[in-house]
Formats: sequence, C-alpha cells, structure tokens
Amino acid sequence: MAPLIVGGEIRVPGDKSISHRALMLAALATGESRVRGILGSADVHSTAGALRALGAAVPTLGNELRIVGAGLHGLRAPDIPLDCGNSGTTTRLLAGICAGYPFASQFIGDASLSRRPMRRIAQPLESMGAEVSLTGSGLPMTVRGGTLRSVDWENEKSSAQVKSAILLAALVGGVAATVRERERSRDHTERMLRSSGVAVTTQGDAVSISPAESLSAFDIDVPGDPSSAAFFAALAALAGGGSLRMPGVGLNPTRTGFYDAVRRMGADVAITDEQEQGGEPVGTLVVTASGSLRATTVGGAVIPTMIDELPLLACVAARAEGTTEITGAAELRVKESDRIATVVGNLRTLGAEAEELPDGLRVTGSDRPLRGHVITHGDHRLAMAFGILAALPGNEITIDDPECAVVSFPGFWALLAETTGGSREARHRERSPRA
Ligand code: S3P
Repeated sequence: MAPLIVGGEIRVPGDKSISHRALMLAALATGESRVRGILGSADVHSTAGALRALGAAVPTLGNELRIVGAGLHGLRAPDIPLDCGNSGTTTRLLAGICAGYPFASQFIGDASLSRRPMRRIAQPLESMGAEVSLTGSGLPMTVRGGTLRSVDWENEKSSAQVKSAILLAALVGGVAATVRERERSRDHTERMLRSSGVAVTTQGDAVSISPAESLSAFDIDVPGDPSSAAFFAALAALAGGGSLRMPGVGLNPTRTGFYDAVRRMGADVAITDEQEQGGEPVGTLVVTASGSLRATTVGGAVIPTMIDELPLLACVAARAEGTTEITGAAELRVKESDRIATVVGNLRTLGAEAEELPDGLRVTGSDRPLRGHVITHGDHRLAMAFGILAALPGNEITIDDPECAVVSFPGFWALLAETTGGSREARHRERSPRA
C-alpha cells in the first residue's frame, strides 16, 4: 500500500465562532461594519437568516460584507420563528440579544438542536429579568425580554455560549454583568466587544461588562478556523510523508488545545508568521508527517480549548501507540450528537478498541486497517473526523452523511480530495449551505 504523502498549502475557511459574532455585533452596531472572509457555512447562514427576521440588514453572505447596523435598540419583533437550524451558537447568543428587547422571539431548530439543553441560558437570562419558556429543556423556546437587571453568574459548564448570551443580554439591556467560570472558555465575544468600544474586563476567573450606550462599527478579517484546520493537521500528522502549510489560521489560546495535545503525541506542528488580526492572534500552521504517534491523556482546564476537536483527537488516538484517555468532557454528550457515545460506537464498528467513560472516553490505537460504515447522526464534526481516518491508505471506511460537513466546513471533501491526491472521498457530494 503506497503511503499517503501530503504537500503544499491550503486555506481553511473562516472561523465559525467569530463569523457568528461578527454578524450579530455588526447588526447591533452604530454605522457600517465591514466583514471579510466570513464562513459561508449552514450554521452561519442560520445566524444571518435569524438576524434578518429581526430586521437587521444582513446582505447575502460573500467574501466582503458591508453591514449597516441597526444600533443596540434597533432590532424589531420577528413575525416568523427564528430558525436556528443545527446551530447552538445562533440559538444561545441570539437568545441573549433578544432578552434585551421588549418583544417575544420564538427559537426553533432541527431535531439535533431541539434536543440540546437550553436551561443553561434560560436560568441566567431569567435572573436578569427576561421570561424564557422551553419545550422540555430545549426548543422550541420563547424569549420575552425587556428591562433587565445586572447579574453575577457562575458559568458551571464553562460554556462560551452561556457566557456570551449573558454578555450580549447585558450589552443590549444596558446593564452590568459578571460571568465566572472555573475553566476558561473561548473569549471571542469579549475581544470583539472590546474592539467595538465596550468596557469588558477579565480578572481571575471573572469576565465583567459595564453598561454601554452604543457599539462602534468595526472592520474585521475573519481568521481561518483552527477547528477546521485541525482535520488537515491530523491528516498531515498521520501521513507517511510530506508537510502541509495552512496560513491565516486563528491561534487564540482558548482554541488551540488540540494542537498542544497532538504535539504531546509526537506530531510536528510548527507556527510561523504570527500576527494580530482584528484583535485575534493568527499565524501559519505547518504540520509535518511524523511517522508514528503515541497516546496521551487530556482532561481538566484544557478541555474547553479543544472541545470541538475531541472527536478528531479520538480518531487520531486510534492510530497512535498506547491508550489515550479523555476525561472531564461530559459536555460532549450534549453537542450536535452525544459525541462520547457516537465516537466510541463508530470506532468500535471500524474495529478499533474504544470505551465510554461517563465524562470522556478511552481509545487504544493500532495500525490494523479500519473497516466499516460510520453513522454520523448528522454531526458535522463526526463526518469530518472519520473522513480523515477514511483518507488513510489501508482503511476502508464509508460515511452515511458526508454532506453534513456543510454545517461548519463547506468544501471539506473537495479540499480533502485535493490534499490526498483525489481519493475516494472526492466522490462524496457537497451540499450547498442553504440546501
Ligand atoms: C462555541 C462554543 C462551544 C463550541 C461551539 C461553538 C461558541 O460550545 O462547542 O461549537 O462559538 O461560543 P459551548 O460554549 O457550549 O461549550
């Protein structure tokens, strides 16, 4: 079997978390914002659509967007439900924004999103004075906002979505808020608010926002998504030779835990051309094939910095020597699928050794060929993580729903085919983000 040799330079699409926030903050700003390099994925289309339903002038997504903001109090009552599709970030962050408005907004989504827990945002928003009604513990959800009061909230799950919902509610409601979290979650909201003139401070484990009168328009180049680059970094690390360059990737330390973990496993990950772009660190990732990887353990405070990459880390672990253990990651159970169960179930189907833990998983690697059919449960990150294993010579893996990658990474399969020299994955159909 010929080894996989990688080479050249690839550009990964814009960061999903930053793209959502750029649209939301531009819609609330005073004046015209410019956003270049926004991610045109299904989740970001959900945010754009929901903002339009709230009266924001969000143009069709394209490489350079000009968005004239409605101002902090300029959104209007939607006459249709806000359809958040598959996107937890759209739902939770917009719920925070809507909590500051004196009207009712109904949030709906697909089957996966409708099952995801919303009490985690309902509780702090209610304690700020909004009314939130849920169906069970999820969607459909109705947020009726109005006059808010300040809040000091313990963010038990260290969720950036919960933290951002509270900060955005305080922003629109013109009140102060403090969010405390034991483990630091991604801080894109804080960075973007600061660069738009809002006083946001971080002290120890607490993030605080002061009441703001308005939000300044901004100009931003969205960095490449480190969560998307991670798939290609894994491919290069597992390849038989060569190296891949990925310029313009976001390197915010609250997002780069995966890279630290694979380095500990023996991967050769170098960073060059580091610079600051729109308040975020970016750089070029150069990942060189390292021959063989060894197991590692991850848990505790670093989990939020690699939460979306854990399915991929588990797939990489299936090819590393020894037993990799991931703990402290119970949040995986409430992502787009129960990622502990779905990752372990699929690894076992393929013939790998894997077991579930209540808050994580264990995977023992081998170089035996992996064979079988992966059931993604419509979870984009599963499709792509197993897509990397499928691209390795010797494995014979099919994926039930490759098109779901469009949720975060349109063009993933074409880029994978290009990078691997036109393998089987090239034939997977790509879906358009709005389909
Ligand atoms: C996100 C935060 C994370 C992450 C999600 C995007 C964000 O979720 O898993 O993909 O943009 O704030 P939690 O905040 O719930 O951990």
